[in-house]
Amino acid sequence: MAEVVVVPDAQAAGALVADTLVALIRRKADAVLGLATGSTPLATYRALAERVRAEQLDVSAVRGFALDEYVGLPAGHPESYRAVITREVVEPLGLNPRLVQVPSGDPATITHAGADYEAAIAAAGGIDLQILGIGRSGHIGFNEPGSSLASRTRIKTLTEATRIDNARFFASIEDVPTHCITQGIGTILAARHLVLLAFGDSKAAAVAAAVEGPVSASQPGSAIQLHPHVTVIVDAPAGSQLGQLAYYEHAWAHKPAWQGI
Ligand code: F6R
Repeated sequence: MAEVVVVPDAQAAGALVADTLVALIRRKADAVLGLATGSTPLATYRALAERVRAEQLDVSAVRGFALDEYVGLPAGHPESYRAVITREVVEPLGLNPRLVQVPSGDPATITHAGADYEAAIAAAGGIDLQILGIGRSGHIGFNEPGSSLASRTRIKTLTEATRIDNARFFASIEDVPTHCITQGIGTILAARHLVLLAFGDSKAAAVAAAVEGPVSASQPGSAIQLHPHVTVIVDAPAGSQLGQLAYYEHAWAHKPAWQGI
């Protein structure tokens, strides 16, 4: 089962994940990171950037793959995930931009962009640590309910709920693209360690379904139960619908520090 860790807030989660990422990069200088966008991982990226600076960590060989991208936004659009990853991850951490890939949402190449991305991930030797958020619909990446649990990177239609949630980044809902390209659930499950972050009570039902619900394509987050190394880090509101919360807290409190996450 997933390890569930309840933390006070996103900053505490960021510190915990940054510890693991620093250890990974020290162990493997060309570590391959799977990068979520959205609001959830921002504190983690900031914590990692701070550690990289403070410890003068060499990240020149670190590689990255974004989870997803909108289809059809003009190149350079500030809310394209390429732009977000550049602004929130590549620049603050000082990564080599040539080593950080985002699936292409260019309609001209969309028919083969998924297969190209899968080939690039395979050529990199797979993803070492995949950072995930979760949508209120239960999506991971942009794998909306109904996505095949074996899916690979491909084009998907966004649900209206997701477009409404993401309208906060755009001038209006009409400006939110209708389609995206996303790592599939099978792609995500192939990463060696999954770290799923969720904060706030709007995520409580999706977190409970992902961790404790039946494994179902109707709840894409539940696919994490098929993975041997998953860490779910939540604040108290996001964890509030978990039935086994007392056990998770007991297990975390008694875990030897050397084990990390
Ligand atoms: C982002 C992604 C999505 C988000 C999810 C939560 O790359 O794949 O699954 O993680 O929509 O978004 P936030 O973090 O903005 O609540």
